[in-house]
Amino acid sequence: MEDFQVSEGTKEEKYTRLSEQLKSLWDGEPDLMANLANATAAIKQTFPFHWIGFYLVKNNELVLGPFQGPVACTRIGLGRGVCGTSWKTKTTQLVPDVDAFPGHIACSSLSRSEIVVPILVGEDVVAVLDIDSSELNDFDQTDKLHLEEICQALARIWNP
Ligand code: SME
Repeated sequence: MEDFQVSEGTKEEKYTRLSEQLKSLWDGEPDLMANLANATAAIKQTFPFHWIGFYLVKNNELVLGPFQGPVACTRIGLGRGVCGTSWKTKTTQLVPDVDAFPGHIACSSLSRSEIVVPILVGEDVVAVLDIDSSELNDFDQTDKLHLEEICQALARIWNP
């Protein structure tokens, strides 16, 4: 397997390579946890974000799934924090400054900005992808577009 490092080029080029890498990792692999785990690693090897991980909806709570980064809170309720808001509203939450987001759940004092993308299977949110940056205002519409595409691809292979 190729040893991918934090890649060179524009953000667009990095996302293009990331999508190709994810496609090849997921192709023919039905195990959801393996695919989510490799997704967090592939994103981490492409972008130097502080924390990258999935929270999965289980018994009406978000429960921590595969991630890369420091230990994080395990359970998040509907409408709580950035993740619970993304789940409740079924929309991507792009947070330039976590201190300005009412109810933000601080798992790490190093997190300054955050993006959370819901994974929708039909009408239901089955999980969210949460990414934290140690830089303020580190996410933009390019991240939103490409991370939403990644989450749509995951929805198509969702197999709990
Ligand atoms: N900040 C998130 C909690 C999860 S951690 O960032 C990993 C939130 O407000 O939902």
